[in-house]
Amino acid sequence: MEERSQWGTRAGFVLAAIGSAVGLGNIWRFPAVAYENGGGAFFIPYLFALLTAGIPILIMEFTMGHKYRGSAPLTFRKINKRTEGIGWWAVLVAFIISTYYSVIIAWAISYSYFSFNLAWGEDTEGFLFGDYLKLADTPGEFGSLVPGVFIPLIIVWIIVLGVLVRGVKRGIEIANRIMIPTLVVVFLIIVIRAVTLPGAITGLDAFFKPDFTEILSPTVWVAAYGQIFFSLSIAFAIMITYSSYLPKKSDITNNAFITGFSNSGFELLAGIGVFAILGFMATSQGVGIDEVVAGGVGLAFVVFPAIINEFPAFKEFFGLLFFLSLVLAGLTSLISIIETYVAGLSEKFNISRTKSVLFGGGLAAILSLIFATQGGLFFLDAADYFINQFGVAALGLVEVILIAWILRKLGVFKSHANEISDIRIGSWWTISIGVITPIVLGYMMFELLRLNIT
Ligand code: PFF
Repeated sequence: MEERSQWGTRAGFVLAAIGSAVGLGNIWRFPAVAYENGGGAFFIPYLFALLTAGIPILIMEFTMGHKYRGSAPLTFRKINKRTEGIGWWAVLVAFIISTYYSVIIAWAISYSYFSFNLAWGEDTEGFLFGDYLKLADTPGEFGSLVPGVFIPLIIVWIIVLGVLVRGVKRGIEIANRIMIPTLVVVFLIIVIRAVTLPGAITGLDAFFKPDFTEILSPTVWVAAYGQIFFSLSIAFAIMITYSSYLPKKSDITNNAFITGFSNSGFELLAGIGVFAILGFMATSQGVGIDEVVAGGVGLAFVVFPAIINEFPAFKEFFGLLFFLSLVLAGLTSLISIIETYVAGLSEKFNISRTKSVLFGGGLAAILSLIFATQGGLFFLDAADYFINQFGVAALGLVEVILIAWILRKLGVFKSHANEISDIRIGSWWTISIGVITPIVLGYMMFELLRLNIT
């Protein structure tokens, strides 16, 4: 057995946890989700979910990793022999996510390159779906590999697996120490430019204007919880794995608060930046904000290139900064997602980190080629939908019910966290994990199944 790796510094761990949390979800998912679910009013369910599920589960996962010092499967096995499978389920979800998350980063690399001469032209939608992806005619057909995606995809895998082979302290920690501060600087430049564009205020107004009519609707609450889980990388084995490398003398609760609030802070910043830019676009075209709002692939690769075309000056520079921010946010998250199975495989089969990076990462890299084909977007949508609907909510629900009610570990975990942390946790934490989160997630699952059946 190799000796267990450790983070070099507290800041190294916190930056890596923030690096995992801050990802594509913050930049292209949050702004649209918030807007569609009540704008300013969305902050109520969102903050509720952060304080009763996000941060409490983060504290729980940090405690589990720190106490049992294992990847997710090993941690669950140490808690109870029969629960190892849950750790593997989380690892499998992470594995699937990594196969397509890597492809989105590859697109962002391509688009960073296209920024140099605004290669997407005037018809950005036609460019993405026509010239660039040349989507296969029949949905579900692969078509051939897209060279513009394939080459950057290889670059993504080389970077990520290269970082992972170097290990926790010399690989993951250093990568996050470089990429996260760079991301913050790049993103701040974008946001400052965004809010000073003509029309920015229209976008900000649309984003923050509260619409309370839907505040009690289950879909709004489901959206808030879904966003918190996805965005904080919880219930995915990720945070358990990262905290298993904490030295014995470490803080847990304070680190969880720092991670949670930094992630939400970045998310808010992204909302402001994206909507200020959308406001500029709507104003310059003389249309309503609703006509330009989008999320996901449409926002990043169709709407943004179109807006960059309209920028008053330094178009290429801002295009590059925007896509670079996606690349940096994405890479640090992808590293954390892959580390879950690198750690899981090397512990289970007692093989070196290098071997598990090559086997696990290699297999994911090969499978990711599916999404780099002309029809890849179709498969990407399907995989993303399935994982988000059933992976996130179901795993979170099983995790909290198991720990709180079946194995009854909350008391033990609470004392463990309190013994070593700056901030003590009390009944707020126990009630959040034992009662509030299971009820909300249970209801979420019920609604999802009902909607899928009818
Ligand atoms: N939290 C990251 C994001 O918001 O993009 C990374 C991530 C974690 C993505 C878990 C997807 C996921 F299911």
